[in-house]
Amino acid sequence: MDATTAQHTIWPEVELIRNEFPILQQTVNGRPLVYLDNGATTQKPVSVIRTMQEYYTTYNSNVHRGVHTLSQKATAAYEAARHQLAAFIGAHHQEVVFTKGTTDAINLVAAGFRKDILQEGDEVIISAMEHHSNIVPWQLACEEKKAVLKVIPISDQGELDMDAFASMLNPRVKIVSVAWVSNTLGTVNPVREIISLAHRQGIPVMLDAAQAAAHIPIRVHELDVDFLALSGHKLFGPTGIGILYGKESWLQKLPPYQGGGDMIKHVTFEKTTYNEPPLKFEAGTPAICEAIGLGAAVAWVTEVGIHKIQAYEHQLTEYAVAQLRTVPGLRFIGEAKHRSGAISFLVGNHHPSDVGILLDQQGIAVRTGHHCTQPLCDRFGIPGTVRASLAVYNTTDDIDRLVEGVQKAVTLLG
Ligand code: ALA
Repeated sequence: MDATTAQHTIWPEVELIRNEFPILQQTVNGRPLVYLDNGATTQKPVSVIRTMQEYYTTYNSNVHRGVHTLSQKATAAYEAARHQLAAFIGAHHQEVVFTKGTTDAINLVAAGFRKDILQEGDEVIISAMEHHSNIVPWQLACEEKKAVLKVIPISDQGELDMDAFASMLNPRVKIVSVAWVSNTLGTVNPVREIISLAHRQGIPVMLDAAQAAAHIPIRVHELDVDFLALSGHKLFGPTGIGILYGKESWLQKLPPYQGGGDMIKHVTFEKTTYNEPPLKFEAGTPAICEAIGLGAAVAWVTEVGIHKIQAYEHQLTEYAVAQLRTVPGLRFIGEAKHRSGAISFLVGNHHPSDVGILLDQQGIAVRTGHHCTQPLCDRFGIPGTVRASLAVYNTTDDIDRLVEGVQKAVTLLG
């Protein structure tokens, strides 16, 4: 794309899409809001807000527990949301476990491996670009079982060293767990190749799809991935909800994560038998309204079209990278060939948080800091970055405001 192309020639529908997000219509610090912190959380369209309001105003009730009308309606809506999520990722509904989010989903799988699968001397493979949520649960599991956490190295561009990865695979490796898209570098990892290499040696793969779900079509059966986690709030849905996809055979094999109501078949003081997956992993009253809200969010994404979103964001990312490159002293952290719209950078010797504060004063929301990837920042020898992360409702005007804002911040910082 010509880096000077105006947004209306990229995708006219973006203005209609923006109108569906009430929060984007405001000014912040006296300027129209430019929201570029979508890697942290996305905004919510009116359809999601209304769906959740309807739940609380007309049929708030517990699920799987009541014969009364409201409970039946809540149960039907909750299970319909599970079907919507399954369709969205190309799975069967029995393979979709509602969790609190990606972190919870990874902890669920790591806890199962920790209890029943990992043995002393076994290995778990992650990568150098993982979020803390895909490091610490495995670290805890490895520490307890005296297993070894191995880390796939990355290049200066922020790409996985796939030769190193291939050479790390051996019969001691019990699982590979990696990010589909890096939240800090924006790298889109070669997940098909990762899965194929691991499967050749019979090793299961878990994908952290938190930064992929709102940007890239996901088809879990086609990928043949064993586990996949995503968060609702990064997918235009509410906080406190996400999913774990697990192959049915794996969900049968893993032990329960938590004990309580709904996850059981029969309880006596001597012995409890467990419900079938996915309910086996959903102890207690779930986040009902949030699950239904997440169903509405994926319905919204499906209506817009995830392929269209991907194509638009690709163009917008290219525009953003080209424009930011014109800022004197700006350097990117992460320049992978295959990348998403999470764009990290530093300017001169300025601390990322100083730049972030000055952008905020101009109504521009970005994230600064280590982005929960401290080992990755150590790898690059930096305290953190300024990160602009795009979503479908961003425009080239937003990017122009960002570039102007960074230039102004640099002038003020001297
Ligand atoms: N993991 C989220 C981010 O990268 C919170 O901002």
